[in-house]
Amino acid sequence: MNAIRQGTVLVAGSANLDFVVRASHVPAPGETVLGREFTTFPGGKGANQAVACARAGGASTRMLVALGDDAHAMSLEASLRAAGVELIVMRANESTGVAFVCLSDTAENAITVAPGANLALQPHHLPSLSGISHLLMQLESPLESVIAWARSAREAGVITVLNAAPALALPCDVLAMVDILIVNETELAQLTGIHDMDAALAALDNPCVVVTLGARGCVAQADGERFEQSAFAIEPVDTTGAGDTFCGTFVAALSQGVPLADALQRATAASALACTRLGAQAGVPARAEVDAFLARHANLPLRTADTL
Ligand code: RIB
Repeated sequence: MNAIRQGTVLVAGSANLDFVVRASHVPAPGETVLGREFTTFPGGKGANQAVACARAGGASTRMLVALGDDAHAMSLEASLRAAGVELIVMRANESTGVAFVCLSDTAENAITVAPGANLALQPHHLPSLSGISHLLMQLESPLESVIAWARSAREAGVITVLNAAPALALPCDVLAMVDILIVNETELAQLTGIHDMDAALAALDNPCVVVTLGARGCVAQADGERFEQSAFAIEPVDTTGAGDTFCGTFVAALSQGVPLADALQRATAASALACTRLGAQAGVPARAEVDAFLARHANLPLRTADTL
């Protein structure tokens, strides 16, 4: 997966305004928790990944997004544009997507999404793929659109990247159109029906599969080779969007011809930095911050299967 041509990354996906309440812990079913301060942050998996691709990854980034004609849309557009993302906005007759996030003092979260306008993204909304090297998608958009976009990208010779989040069981023919699959352990198990990570990885034949492991780093399987990237030691404040920062930074690096092993390391570093700050998009570091962080942690090894 190292010989990848450079180009622009197109993110097709969701944007939500995150309504965040901090509390001692995430409530169990039926429990009410008295929280503390309430804040809104720009979020949504697609938009978070686009911001990470542009800001942390420094890649030329476009995003296809559906927003309502309301005040929430304005702050989402502003956040994306401030990061340098070129927008293709579908104005929907629905309210802009929102997400309700309970953020615990241990940096864990529980999220409920009201997708609203995000569900208006249709297969035919995909813009021209001319000049696009990678199409990055998630599962907060209608599945039929994700499938159609992946098919169009495949036909155009664009590398298809799917972050299969939120967790969903996907038809095999959908997975067959994915060049790079990025999942966490829960999503991997849901996707394959196999709970052992190694067995699940063995069941997938995508050219590249990346499994993010939270505080344990990540594992990747690409063209018969296996990589393991350790996590960086940090004090997490907010893990909301950490996986999105990983995805965006990772694809940005690949789009600039960075070798897979180094792309995993950059993405892990950006994700670690994002966990030290509040807010899904507000927490995404700048590329220079990722460079400085990596320079301070330059000895961190990236291990292949031979050294595990
Ligand atoms: O991955 C984190 C994101 O999931 C949040 O920003 C929220 O909007 C939901 O889409």
